[in-house]
Formats: sequence, C-alpha cells, structure tokens
Amino acid sequence: MELLELMRTRRSIRKYDGRPVEEEKLARVLEAGRLAPSARNMQEWKFVVVRGSRLEALTKACNGQQMVQEAGAAIAVCATENHMMGCGQPSATVDCSIALSFMLLEAEELGLGMCWLGSFMAPAVKEALDLPEDWTVVAVSPLGYPAESPDARPRKPLGELVVTLTD
Ligand SMILES: Cc1cc2nc3c(=O)[nH]c(=O)nc-3n(C[C@H](O)[C@H](O)[C@H](O)COP(=O)(O)O)c2cc1C
Repeated sequence: MELLELMRTRRSIRKYDGRPVEEEKLARVLEAGRLAPSARNMQEWKFVVVRGSRLEALTKACNGQQMVQEAGAAIAVCATENHMMGCGQPSATVDCSIALSFMLLEAEELGLGMCWLGSFMAPAVKEALDLPEDWTVVAVSPLGYPAESPDARPRKPLGELVVTLTD
C-alpha cells in the first residue's frame, strides 16, 4: 500500500482474535524497527518480544490493559542507554519512539494490529520481563491479528498545525 494511505488507514487496535503471529511477519515488524534512524546512529535499543505466560504479568504491569494478553504477543521497546541531545531531548525516548512508529506501520502493512501503550508501570514491566535495571522501558505494544476495525480518530487540520515562515 502507498505509504501515506497506510498511515491514513492505520488504527490503534485494542481487540485481537488470538491467532498467533507467524515468525516471518514478526521478523518483518522487528526489521522495521531495526531500520529506524537514531541519534548518532547509536541504536541503543532492545526490542523485547513477549509471548506465553509472561503476558499475564505484562498485562498487569500495563495497568490491566487486556489487549496485551489477548493479542498473543507484545513488544516492549527499551533503551539501553540515554543521553541528552544538544536540543535538550532524551535520545532514549526519541529513538525508541521512532523505532516503534516504524514497527506500527510495518504491522499495518502485514494486516497485523498494534497499539502504542504509554500507560504502564515501568518497574513492574521490568520485573515481569526480567529486564536489566539500567534499561528504560519507553513503550509497550500488543502485536496480533485485529478483531476490530475502529473508525478513524480525528486529526487536527494542517491549517492548525503548520506555521509557515517566509521573508
Ligand atoms: C505515546 C502514546 C501513548 C499511548 N498510550 C496508550 C495506552 O496506554 N492505552 C491505549 O489504549 N492507547 C494508547 N495510545 C493510543 C492512542 O490513544 C491513539 O494512538 C490515539 O487515540 C489515536 O488513535 P489511532 O492510533 O487509532 O489513530 C497511546 C498512543 C501514544 C502515541
């Protein structure tokens, strides 16, 4: 699908039918994350794929958002390092967010669903997944086959967003 059209049709998916995601499709989603740009190209990230019994604890750590368990798989995007960029923004958050954005789009292309989760208790996620203390959990997302086709959420018109500066 043409990229802009894919971006138009992508939705956050919160209901899943539980069908397992094929290894090849999972690999493609992860590959999309691998290809993402990062500050100084440091790629200081880990994509933690969660399946099986740990999903229950991960769901609890995500404040009980059942979609995590229902999807049958989840990805926790973690930063292994963090530095403040010259612009004052933390590289960990920015880099991992780009990686997950790429994954969301590839999942859509493959007919899979994801939903960016920012509502989670980071210490509980780390405990559920046995992650090293110095990693930062930036985002979590379920990954699976959608069992819903949500309507588009509204977006502000460009006129409200774009500031054009000319001489
Ligand atoms: C940083 C971030 C955090 C989010 N956290 C959650 C969350 O914890 N739970 C949830 O159901 N959706 C979460 N979302 C999904 C947003 O609600 C969703 O992207 C937004 O409503 C637009 O809908 P769409 O993705 O279908 O276009 C999050 C999205 C972002 C980008």
